[in-house]
Amino acid sequence: MSERLEDIAAAIVANGKGLLAADESSGTIKKRFDVIGVESTADSRRDYREMMFRAKDAMTKYISGVILYDETIRQKAADGTPLVDIIKASGAIPGIKVDAGAKPLAGFPGDTVTEGLDGLRERLADYYKLGARFAKWRAVIDIDTGKGVPSTNSISANTHALARYAALCQEAGIVPIVEPEVLMDGAHDIGTCYEVSKATLIKLYDELHAARVVLEGTILKPNMVLSGKTSGTVDSPEKVAEMTIKLFRETVPAAVPGIAFLSGGQEDEEATANLNAINAIGPHPWKLTFSYGRALQAAPQKAWSGKASNVAAGQAAFTHRAHMNYLAALGKWKASLEQAA
Ligand code: 13P
Repeated sequence: MSERLEDIAAAIVANGKGLLAADESSGTIKKRFDVIGVESTADSRRDYREMMFRAKDAMTKYISGVILYDETIRQKAADGTPLVDIIKASGAIPGIKVDAGAKPLAGFPGDTVTEGLDGLRERLADYYKLGARFAKWRAVIDIDTGKGVPSTNSISANTHALARYAALCQEAGIVPIVEPEVLMDGAHDIGTCYEVSKATLIKLYDELHAARVVLEGTILKPNMVLSGKTSGTVDSPEKVAEMTIKLFRETVPAAVPGIAFLSGGQEDEEATANLNAINAIGPHPWKLTFSYGRALQAAPQKAWSGKASNVAAGQAAFTHRAHMNYLAALGKWKASLEQAA
């Protein structure tokens, strides 16, 4: 595997493949395990993730890389094999979440800023030795227009941090996944999501240029343009595709090799149908694929439910969703394929 940033970025978004975002912090994975009645321990988290990483079909055909959490990148499978080696043996690339989470932004109630820059150079060097060739940093932009959220200062602070993170990654030989997530929480309409996402992406590429980040060695991980979760509107895939592509054409340079969406609270099939509609109206200057957490893992979590006897069922559920999203990244998904499974 080439070590050039451009080649790693291209491999992440190649031929319909996408990323498995398995980088839930220990707090977040506990919430997911609570839903399926599984106690969250280092071993149960390991067993669950090992199940997915050993799903051969999914990992070799549909998944280009896995975003890991600090605990997981250091963990060994039950038989002693490092989890990173299992991922690499499937041909997928190990990646690592390096941000320290979104914290309240002083002076701006309702806004957050993502922290984690202090000591990042040293942590990246360590993660490189552990096998990571790409990283992720998630900025969180909430929408609450009545309260002036997001503020201009929040967009500036978050995109500036993303640019400093991206520059440090490239210095370390690691491809930065640049994630400015405009949340779908709230009752706002799709036009508001478009406006806030546009302001964010304009500022983001301004900051990335200022920080001398090489765009060819980056991947963008954005939200789709959607109506708010509590707006009462679920947009058609065609509407989502039209608004999302309009946004990117106006803001994302063609030098960026790929865009890998987060699922952000969409239903599993909704996230697949929207990705498919986006690719169906191509050609586009960038590859458009998935970097889903919840929309890839909700089904396998339920099928597995913490029982060794359910490992095959969990792997089948994961493989199915990965396959469907792979087809969507090629614009070849059909709703009938969901029932067939
Ligand atoms: P979701 O797909 O569940 O939004 O998670 C993706 C992710 O990595 C968020 O940072």
